Amino acid sequence: VELFAELNYGAPTVDQLPLTRWKEMLYRATRYQDGNMLAYHSDPFGYMPLREAICNYLIRSRSVNCTPDRVAIFSGAQGALDLMGRLLIDNGDAVALENPGFPGARRSMLTHGAEIIPIPVDGQGMIVEHLESINQRVKLVYVTPSHHDPTGVVLSLPRRIALLDWAARTDSFIFEDDYDSEYRYGDKPMPSLQGLDEHDCTIYLSTFWKVLYPVVRIGFIVLPRRMVRLVGRAKALIERDFPLLEQKALADFIEEGHLERHIKRTRVFYAKRRAALVQAVTKQFGKRIYISPVTAGMHLLVRFGEEFEEEQVLTAARTAEVSLVSTSHHYVVNSRQREYLMGFAHLPEESIHETVQKFAANLGL
Ligand SMILES: Cc1ncc(COP(=O)(O)O)c(C=O)c1O
Repeated sequence: VELFAELNYGAPTVDQLPLTRWKEMLYRATRYQDGNMLAYHSDPFGYMPLREAICNYLIRSRSVNCTPDRVAIFSGAQGALDLMGRLLIDNGDAVALENPGFPGARRSMLTHGAEIIPIPVDGQGMIVEHLESINQRVKLVYVTPSHHDPTGVVLSLPRRIALLDWAARTDSFIFEDDYDSEYRYGDKPMPSLQGLDEHDCTIYLSTFWKVLYPVVRIGFIVLPRRMVRLVGRAKALIERDFPLLEQKALADFIEEGHLERHIKRTRVFYAKRRAALVQAVTKQFGKRIYISPVTAGMHLLVRFGEEFEEEQVLTAARTAEVSLVSTSHHYVVNSRQREYLMGFAHLPEESIHETVQKFAANLGL
């Protein structure tokens, strides 16, 4: 149950999903009148019109350097991480990743026998200089440059350049996970790291989970050119195909501009919820709590003072129906005590104050 809660943490709120439009796309896909669809041949990288739609979207919105033949569809980011881990990591290979960082990536790399090298993070993202001081070969660096998981900070441009330079010099791969790049409320999302790569060493990964879960369950990678053939062969050993209707509906959804309109609309919606939660938490907790100023994603990163024990805080949140998880799973080393993620996607503005008040009252405030 705990793992499940952790996995579904930060999902979009169901009442904001574009269900009517999605139904329309699905209905159209079921009519099978489209000649392209009838002529469909199995392709382990997925339905070509969807790969074209994703490719165009990534060029437009994320400045990814992309062609449809380099796009491979998966049922989520996790499956893509797994396949790339299987292909790139041999037992004992060093893999560098952010500390704190996405536990799903770390656990996946560990299952392939990786030796994990944690790299610290500050207000400008992964401290890339640390890579220079590692005195063994690092085969792969996993990084979340557009929205660091869990702090939300953006990897600065000088560090992006330094990271790409390091990867080219050391002949390493970069795994860029662009998860949650869509939701930034103050500053504009920074273009992808992959778009700056001139050495064909970045594997770009993203998922529709943050935007469309559970309506759409699709993720994808954009491969370096030199890996396309190898990954194509490997993926064919795992799955030759997957559900065509969903792929066809999603291709139309993207091509007709519904995805970008949905993101634009929900960005405004979630920004309001975030602001309301910040206001409520500040009012109830004042100086007893630190709230990270990063305005992005669907959770606030908060730190409580020493007067509150972890179990006490988690129980108080649960009974007040505040979505709160500890960040301890995100750390390999030096985990921060009393640091939590507080979700706001599911908190209606009109009841946020009442909910947070209940949470504070449960803590005796
Ligand atoms: C950084 C990051 N990447 C990927 C994912 C998961 O993507 P998917 O559910 O499509 O496997 C998550 C989910 O929490 C995440 O935090």
